[in-house]
Amino acid sequence: MRVLHVAAEVFPLIKTGGLADVVGALPQALIGCGAETRLLLPGLPAIADAVLHQKPVCTLGAVFGAGRVTVRLGQLPYSRVPAYVIDAPYLYRREGSPYQASDGTEWGDNLQRFGLLGWVAAHLGAGELDPGWTPQVVHAHDWHAGMTCAYMASHPPTRAASVFTIHNLAFQGLFAQADFGLLGLPARFLVSHGVEYHGQVSFMKAGLKYANRITTVSPTYAAEIATPEFGAGLDGVIRGRAGQVSGILNGVDGTVWNPERDTGLVARYSAQDFRGKALCKQALQTELGLAVQADAPVFGIVSRLSSQKGLDLVLGALPGLLRRGGQLALQGTGDPALESAFAAAAQANPGRVAVRIGYDEALAHRLIAGADVIMVPSRFEPCGLTQLYGLRYGTLPLVRRVGGLVDTVVDATADAVTADRATGFAFDAASPAALENALQRAIEFYQQPPLWCQLMLRAMAQDFSWEGAARKYMALYAEVTGTRPVGRVAA
Ligand code: ADP
Ligand code: GLC
Repeated sequence: MRVLHVAAEVFPLIKTGGLADVVGALPQALIGCGAETRLLLPGLPAIADAVLHQKPVCTLGAVFGAGRVTVRLGQLPYSRVPAYVIDAPYLYRREGSPYQASDGTEWGDNLQRFGLLGWVAAHLGAGELDPGWTPQVVHAHDWHAGMTCAYMASHPPTRAASVFTIHNLAFQGLFAQADFGLLGLPARFLVSHGVEYHGQVSFMKAGLKYANRITTVSPTYAAEIATPEFGAGLDGVIRGRAGQVSGILNGVDGTVWNPERDTGLVARYSAQDFRGKALCKQALQTELGLAVQADAPVFGIVSRLSSQKGLDLVLGALPGLLRRGGQLALQGTGDPALESAFAAAAQANPGRVAVRIGYDEALAHRLIAGADVIMVPSRFEPCGLTQLYGLRYGTLPLVRRVGGLVDTVVDATADAVTADRATGFAFDAASPAALENALQRAIEFYQQPPLWCQLMLRAMAQDFSWEGAARKYMALYAEVTGTRPVGRVAA
């Protein structure tokens, strides 16, 4: 099976969130399952300057206003995955985020930048750009790659099947309808049952309407996005694809997230011997200026600071957390109002609340290893990865019962504890009171070390491997290419 993945970011080269972790790990896991997997990426400096052994595959004329575009094939570093890089300096050679300028505004030519990504993907899928390799499946991720599916549908000789994965339906890639002409798609695509969305062009909708199959990153989110509450205005489109939308849970890359081998920690540990975790906690408290107290439960957060993540609930529940003897360690960046509210909380509670504004991969590891609890109180969460990392590191997740958080964390109810299935704490209402209630339950467990230890062991025994997810994608590829009888892919 030959599969081309199309995405805008990949760990460790460039990452704004979990998408990069997935794109860094899934293609490798697919290779492990026997698929011939390649990646197509925009030539952002962090990508174009890092992909090894690049050789030109083809040169295109002046497309999307880019002047000369060269597609090169090389090798992702730290990986077995071959990667095509679109070298189009006029569109991509900009430092910083793949999507925004340093002042936080979207790049004004994102329609062209990500239109080109989809266009190249579709033409690779049609076997027109690389005579040496034609994929059977083109697998596009999130709105950045959504146009791939429309271009493939506009291109009759295309033989490859398309799969589109929604990582976050809230980011849709909307552009002025007046710019539709820049995409070079036939006018019949600019209709309400095509890429038009309330008078705009939607890249997300291009994926949803034209992909042969749609997946998202957890079974619960797959069901949620068919409802107005979680559909971000596209629930009708999702319902229109009923039967062709499935949820496949993300995994954890054990070469990156593994407390037994994590060289960035002061001590390594495992489920057999987690004495090292106590050292990690002590080191974290020292590093962040928290009171070094072994018996104070440390609640950790590593997150984008956005309304999605429900961190305003944490601000509301913070007095209760501190009153019960807890500490808060937060690392994140995003919404300036949340950044300053957390900075103020840290200033008001020295030794009890520590806040690091910014993006720091190494600190994320130290924080997840050193905390006792990892909090993910999201309003919606397609999958969520930090709770999975928490499980792996014996840092119990405290989550809101939505999306992938439902599918990955077993709340410590009396029944679940008796059955030895509990791995964390969950709450329902998006309110500080409901969060505070869950915090209180977590602290009660924390104060009973044998119970806490039972939950940690159960958490660390969870197997959210990429191999399992890759096997499900393989079954989907087989189905969509007709290489075996069509049947429902298990969620
Ligand atoms: P999302 O993709 O919605 O942001 P996920 O939980 O899927 O949420 O993935 C977030 C990823 O980004 C995780 O790998 C997490 O560790 C990382 N991350 C988020 N914020 C930061 C930060 N400030 N510093 C370092 N890593 C971060
Ligand atoms: C998105 C989602 C997150 C998911 C990640 C990777 O950013 O917000 O829940 O884990 O994509 O699929």
